[in-house]
Amino acid sequence: MTIITLPTTDTAPVKASRRLSVAPMMDWTDRHCRVFHRHISQHTWLYTEMVTTGALVYGDVERHLRFNDEEHPVALQLGGSDPADLATSAKLGEKWGYDEINLNCGCPSERVQKGAFGACLMAEPQLVADCVKAMRDAVSIDVTVKHRVGIDQTESYDFVRDFVGTVAEAGCKTFIVHARNAILKGLSPKENREVPPLKYEFAYQLKRDFPDFEIIINGGVKTEAEIDEHLQHLDGVMLGREAYHNPFVMAGFDQRYYGDARAPKSREEVLEAMIPYIQAQLAQHGARGLKLNTITRHMLGLMTGLPGARAFRQVLSDSKKLALGDADLLREAAARLRIAA
Ligand SMILES: Cc1cc2nc3c(=O)[nH]c(=O)nc-3n(C[C@H](O)[C@H](O)[C@H](O)COP(=O)(O)O)c2cc1C
Repeated sequence: MTIITLPTTDTAPVKASRRLSVAPMMDWTDRHCRVFHRHISQHTWLYTEMVTTGALVYGDVERHLRFNDEEHPVALQLGGSDPADLATSAKLGEKWGYDEINLNCGCPSERVQKGAFGACLMAEPQLVADCVKAMRDAVSIDVTVKHRVGIDQTESYDFVRDFVGTVAEAGCKTFIVHARNAILKGLSPKENREVPPLKYEFAYQLKRDFPDFEIIINGGVKTEAEIDEHLQHLDGVMLGREAYHNPFVMAGFDQRYYGDARAPKSREEVLEAMIPYIQAQLAQHGARGLKLNTITRHMLGLMTGLPGARAFRQVLSDSKKLALGDADLLREAAARLRIAA
């Protein structure tokens, strides 16, 4: 496990860990989204969107890998199945300063299957082990694997136990378990996050069978009560959609799960904290290079559950206002929320 200590003002430093994390989500967890999430929780571990080895070996490395210092701790998720390309990509990730390299063995999209990676890799545990070994040989940061509990109609626990056992022989000790099967044909990626039933018990059993490994659960988790229950059995909990649609769910995480004594920022303080970031990004890229909406679209859920949340979202989605490229729009949205509440 990577040891990173994060400074706190009035307590002992908090040890960075994957106790809580935000899932890798394509088109959602980009660097702007991660900065926003970081203002809500200082310690929750963040993941990039999946970046394919092809994009790094043949594409624009800076476009795919640049991120902001304040995002730490942040993990780079890779998609690929060629050990040499994965090693090259992992090395680039380490060079750019990521804290972890994660291999995607859970994505069921057909496009990803054509590239022979993602969830279909679960049928080839030895290949995954070879990939992990190649990456571990190339970098000194943690190499972790995110996977499902089965593919297609597999119902037996043995399948995922053998997958984890084989991959662990290559030195991977951290497994992020999306506790559903992936159905490789017939379901869209979205349906694959909803239709196959959750099998939390499989993840719990993995922890019993491999007590020395770090086992993190993912899938359908929304509340602190659910997190508390999972943490009775496992090392960590990863939130995906809930963290995105209702990001303020993370506001209490630093105190509750990392023992950080500082009070979390209020929603309005989070908004205020984003303004200088947005201004700096707009100045850096120019209004033509970066649209305000590229950043604010991730913030629409900040007021979820509050009266006035709709008015807040409406202001932040107003294309005419967005086109002006003025970060003060956040303050206007907050004012509308107060009026509507
Ligand atoms: C929009 C979207 C994009 C996703 N992209 C990825 C991805 O790039 N890599 C990955 O491993 N999982 C991806 N996932 C799956 C999530 O990481 C997570 O496993 C899944 O949403 C289940 O967790 P949840 O129920 O907490 O959302 C994506 C999910 C969503 C909603």
